[in-house]
Amino acid sequence: MAGSTLSLPVIGLEVFLADPTSAEAIVSCKAVAAALQEHGALSIRDPRVSEADNGAFVDLMEAYFSQEASTKALDERPEVGYQVGSTPAFTEIPRCAADDECVALVERLLPDDKPAPFDTADAKERFFWRVGTPPPPGLATQFLSLHAVPVVPPAFADVWQNQMDAWGAKLLAAVRVVAEMLAVGLGLPQDAIAGRTDHAPHLLAPTGSDLSGAANARVGRVLAGFHTDLNLLTIHGKSRFPGLNIWDAQNHKLRAKIPDGCLLVQAGKQLEYLTAGHIKAGFHEVVVTDDTLTAIAKQTEAGRPLWRISSTLFFHCDSDSTLEPLPIFATPESFARFPPLLAGTQVQHELGLINLSAKA
Ligand SMILES: *[C@@H]1O[C@H](CO)[C@@H](O)[C@H](O)[C@H]1NC(C)=O
Ligand SMILES: [Fe+2]
Repeated sequence: MAGSTLSLPVIGLEVFLADPTSAEAIVSCKAVAAALQEHGALSIRDPRVSEADNGAFVDLMEAYFSQEASTKALDERPEVGYQVGSTPAFTEIPRCAADDECVALVERLLPDDKPAPFDTADAKERFFWRVGTPPPPGLATQFLSLHAVPVVPPAFADVWQNQMDAWGAKLLAAVRVVAEMLAVGLGLPQDAIAGRTDHAPHLLAPTGSDLSGAANARVGRVLAGFHTDLNLLTIHGKSRFPGLNIWDAQNHKLRAKIPDGCLLVQAGKQLEYLTAGHIKAGFHEVVVTDDTLTAIAKQTEAGRPLWRISSTLFFHCDSDSTLEPLPIFATPESFARFPPLLAGTQVQHELGLINLSAKA
């Protein structure tokens, strides 16, 4: 079990939004870079995003995931690696399971820092909805499956696009500013990282985990096994059910607590690539804990659905852009460890390793 609860640094975006060049803004930018380096994660407060916005989106997703499995199955698109529409439970396999180096790392962890078992497919379900601006015509992507036609669930046809786009746009705007602040915090031009994301296949990626019934509401049940995210940065609002554990750069396991009205941002593999490991992709897992059971009791009393929703967005680099160490991290050694690679190729390789597409 996680020993300690971590209150991640909370960084407000308002100072930077008001004037990105102010001395106060630069201090915040350095704090963003330091938090990602130390914890692989941070909490942010964006004055443009409210807890009510997150709540409205979580309500929609509770209704979506509460549908019959056979109804949700019509929204599956395995032929494009599930990159749009629904991914059923017990499909995605935790990334660590496919990685000998990761398995060896887990063996070295202290008992209190060990993750829950990660050798079977995740109990969570997910829905992928692409947000942002597609590659411009004439500059066509060579990664068509990452830019596939969106899926609109029939029962939600009248509201789906508006609500998904509304929450997606808020998270996208927030995380883009974090990418700008990170670049400034690293001593780079504001657009050095965010400028690589303008035509990327960003995915609004809410997960839903069924917590109804004694078998599902069992302490230790793994909803999402130990892994890092394959993308650049991940952002999400607060879930109604606790259970997220994160590992800091020293590989200590911590329970993540997100203050009301805040968003959690985590570093992914593409950021590790661009910074040549200066910022590491943050390990995390979602497991049912005593606190989850307390929330289940509370939601049951309130007559709410027992689905744990995470209101996640995966922020990506442009598929046809090259992942390689940024100039300040460029050395012969870093290029040997992180050789130039198209972001779309990296994504497809990772999707194979987590059982979302045929191994590339
Ligand atoms: C991999 O995904 C497929 C569905 O695409 C699923 O049927 C299969 O059980 C998954 N593999 C494992 C080992 O869980
Ligand atoms: Fe994740």
